Amino acid sequence: MSLPTPLINVMDAAARKASRRLVRDFGEIEQLQVSRKGPGDFVSEADRRTEQVLYDELSKARPGFGFLMEEGGEINGESGDERWIVDPIDGTTNFLHGIPHFAISIGVERDGNLIAGVVYEPIHDELFWAENGAGSYLNRKRLRVSERSTLADSLIATGIPFGNRKGKKSFIAMLNAVMEKTSGVRRLGSASLDLAYVAAGRYEGFWETGLSPWDIAGGIVIVREAGGLVSEINGRNSMLYGTSIIATNQHIYDPFRKLLMDAVRDENLKLTE
Ligand code: IPD
Repeated sequence: MSLPTPLINVMDAAARKASRRLVRDFGEIEQLQVSRKGPGDFVSEADRRTEQVLYDELSKARPGFGFLMEEGGEINGESGDERWIVDPIDGTTNFLHGIPHFAISIGVERDGNLIAGVVYEPIHDELFWAENGAGSYLNRKRLRVSERSTLADSLIATGIPFGNRKGKKSFIAMLNAVMEKTSGVRRLGSASLDLAYVAAGRYEGFWETGLSPWDIAGGIVIVREAGGLVSEINGRNSMLYGTSIIATNQHIYDPFRKLLMDAVRDENLKLTE
């Protein structure tokens, strides 16, 4: 067991403080489901409020850091080279529908590289955290990616493009291939938790296209420090600001990435189609 680092303590405290009101708001959702206006405005308000608490707490603890936030956008910091990347509710649609699977996600970027992350799932009080070189943890328990080594034994998570998002045709092609070759596919609706679950060995792999930096910044270091691999589907390392992400244990990375690449190529598609 290792003690959380000072940076992790800051994120842990901010996430827990922000989550108190969020959990109360989640309890209200059920009542609001039946109202005529619907809970949409209420959830946007909960999102903004949570982000404000995170902003206040994180900037108090590290005044020089900048921010990239889902709601508030980019705020430059005084030091210029470090910033928080924040998603106040990752899994907003779940929250809106009263489904208890959502998280607060915070990543730390220094000179363009991720150095630490926290993904906090408040309903089950699961705090996933990692800092480069310090290992990956769920609360105080060390995390390791799973040892399953074949695609046939692997449980895979994904996200399904919806509305006007790009990538629906390529998603169907990849899903067809993954359905054939693996032991199952899950779409639970929170990318940061999908990454944390890969780190915890609950899934062997995860892929998605069209995500934003705040959806994944908290989870990437958690996967890597748990011994997993993360990249874009084409193998490049620019997934934070790119168009796709794949995260796996060390065994299935090559065959899983090839499966996805081949599925898209065989249909003459691009990942954004
Ligand atoms: C969403 C979740 C979901 C993913 C969507 C994201 P949000 O984030 O991470 O799993 O499939 O693409 O937009 O909007 O709830 O922060």
